[in-house]
Amino acid sequence: MFATLDIVDIRKDFPILNQTVQGKPLVYLDNAATTQKPRQVIEALTQYYEQYNANIHRGIHSLAEQATAAYEATRDTVQAFIHAANREEIVFTRGTTEGINLVAQSYARTMLKPGDEVIVSGMEHHSNIVPWQMVCEQTGAVLRVIPITDSGDIVWEAYEKLLSEKTKIVAIVYVSNSMGTINPVRDIIQKAHAYGAKVLLDGAQASAHLDIDVQELDTDFYVFSSHKVYGPTGVGVLYGKQELLEAMPPYQGGGEMIKEVSFEQTTYAALPYKFEAGTPNIGDTVAFKAALDYITTLGKPVIADYEHELLTYATQSLEAIDGLRIIGQAKEKISVVSFVMEGIHHQDIGIILDTQGIAVRTGHHCTQPLMSRMGILGTSRASFALYNTKEEIDKLVQGLYKVKKMMG
Ligand SMILES: Cc1ncc(COP(=O)(O)O)c(C=O)c1O
Repeated sequence: MFATLDIVDIRKDFPILNQTVQGKPLVYLDNAATTQKPRQVIEALTQYYEQYNANIHRGIHSLAEQATAAYEATRDTVQAFIHAANREEIVFTRGTTEGINLVAQSYARTMLKPGDEVIVSGMEHHSNIVPWQMVCEQTGAVLRVIPITDSGDIVWEAYEKLLSEKTKIVAIVYVSNSMGTINPVRDIIQKAHAYGAKVLLDGAQASAHLDIDVQELDTDFYVFSSHKVYGPTGVGVLYGKQELLEAMPPYQGGGEMIKEVSFEQTTYAALPYKFEAGTPNIGDTVAFKAALDYITTLGKPVIADYEHELLTYATQSLEAIDGLRIIGQAKEKISVVSFVMEGIHHQDIGIILDTQGIAVRTGHHCTQPLMSRMGILGTSRASFALYNTKEEIDKLVQGLYKVKKMMG
């Protein structure tokens, strides 16, 4: 039996879902790319621009104070959402990608020495590969990669073997965007810490689905994007342990991040402002709070239960299609079903499904090394959110039979 989410009511909160695409009711199954936004988020954004748009922190007039309070209220909500110890540990960024680049350039670049090692896994998004490659090139450090099994898990023994006194950073995805694998991050972090290495968790896919407790995980850094948790684009979060953030130099220079400036010497602002140079994305950050409140009000465990039932139903339904193979069969998975169909290019699958009003993602999902490991060019990926239904999965299955008929 499905858990206690009232999906009919929830869907009313997402105006975009109530439309036809190519003459068919929209079936939106591209949630790993970005989620749709509830009207609570859209209204918070509109309200900001209609009622109290002003630049923050420096103004003493009423609108500036109201905007500052709303912006900082989001920081408090994020702190509670990921159970951080202090609000100063929450840095607003443009998204997951910027958070990883910030840590690579501000933390890693200043401490890595030639011969040091950075470990990533074979299932990383390009955002958690390229910034580390860049910093390795800059410092003479070496990038090491944890291999992946056929089912889409990391090879644990290989990870243990890669770890050494040379390991300085382990950067790993919590939930794979291409396969849905939930990595054993608690154990990964514990092992890394035993060698004195710091850990960055890419929480881009995990944050909408799993309860995140950065203190319990004991992760050193955690990054995620607002737009994947029902919030606006252009905002993200970097969490870092306070002592690490304190010791890191600023990532960018400019207004907001300073204490005092003279041509002889500049001193920097306290955390978290040291890392927030320039006018930030105020409106979207304000509306981001409404997204987190929306999730918290429904309750993460209830959402997770419901999405798990969707995943199980989708997996069983798709497995029954002759010639379809699911890529990523890890035991611990969430919200993503990636698949290939014998003799049919993923792009054709995407185009034909679109004629049925069904939105899935096709291609390499910014994980080209993983695609190479699996011996494929890409997949079709259906990814689920709290507003999806079994009926939509049935439509996906019908759509795939149509694909087979047309292309088979
Ligand atoms: C696992 C993972 N990491 C990083 C990113 C990058 O996120 P953003 O583009 O919001 O910076 C994504 C986005 O697809 C992702 O799925």
